[in-house]
Amino acid sequence: MENNHKIVFSAVQPSGKLTIGNYLGSIKNWIALQEEYQCIYCVADMHAITVRQEPAALRQRTYELVALYMASGLDPEKCTLFVQSHVPAHAQLAWVLNCNTMFGELSRMTQFKDKSAKHADNINAGLFTYPALMAADILLYQTDLVPVGQDQMQHIELTRDVAGRFNSVYSPTFKMPEGLVHRNGAKIMSLSEPQKKMSKSDENTNAFILMLDDRDTIIRKCKRAVTDSEAQVRFGEGKDGINNLMTIYACFTGKTMEEIEKEFEGRGYGDFKLAVGEAVADGLAPIQDEFARLTKDKTYLESVMAKGAEAASRLAGRTMAKVYRKVGFIG
Ligand code: TRP
Repeated sequence: MENNHKIVFSAVQPSGKLTIGNYLGSIKNWIALQEEYQCIYCVADMHAITVRQEPAALRQRTYELVALYMASGLDPEKCTLFVQSHVPAHAQLAWVLNCNTMFGELSRMTQFKDKSAKHADNINAGLFTYPALMAADILLYQTDLVPVGQDQMQHIELTRDVAGRFNSVYSPTFKMPEGLVHRNGAKIMSLSEPQKKMSKSDENTNAFILMLDDRDTIIRKCKRAVTDSEAQVRFGEGKDGINNLMTIYACFTGKTMEEIEKEFEGRGYGDFKLAVGEAVADGLAPIQDEFARLTKDKTYLESVMAKGAEAASRLAGRTMAKVYRKVGFIG
């Protein structure tokens, strides 16, 4: 890997099946970045256990997520693809950063508030300190850019605060990372409650489209999507459902909002919804085929993970050595 390239780091948790929101909001943007930057992409299995996971299912989803990354176009020859728990430096740095992150800072994290409301029976310390682990993920690699959805920006801000604090207490150690929220498709909303983000953990399965949903399911979910009573395909205020479908359609077809409005002028929502469903199904079909091929070959997936973990460990080791020395550990 060349050293003169900016470093990009991002991760997704293997905590559920991926939706088109994850794909359009993050993974699709990562693919473009791998051509330009030194990219490091991680399957954040350590983050996933902040909520209770069924062990066999977690293992399975971790394989699947690596396969899905690759099927979507992440090329292990062009970027580093690895599983978080394979690189112990993440846990090591997380501890040091935990000791440099304030209780008050963590208390303000909206994701913690949301998740602890949702998992009231398991508000564990890991759920609370999760942003320190995320900061470790990012800071270990001297990351310049972190492509994320808008909902993660608060964690990036905290990462910067913690990095700045560490640097000023112990001398400059970490590069100051920047969040990168993509304009297009950064936020895909729920199909049934379009004021809410599309989430793979939604109890209503009609609210999201999974990357591995079959064609009929995708079309059915689009047909059921909540819209409005205006019956006009137009991007505008108070039309959250239609705006969301237009955004999805735009992402999969490359058309602009004006082009879409023209295309469906004088036509009903039924036609439009069907077109959205077909565009999504067509767009996902090649990814699904490649995914099916890759998941048959676990040995190959494991070799990709091993190679990724080795490259990531090498980079992380440099930062870790500095950090341990600076805080006063005997090297
Ligand atoms: N917390 C992120 C999420 O829930 C996933 C994540 C973990 C991440 N570590 C990261 C994202 C580091 C960006 C950088 O979506």
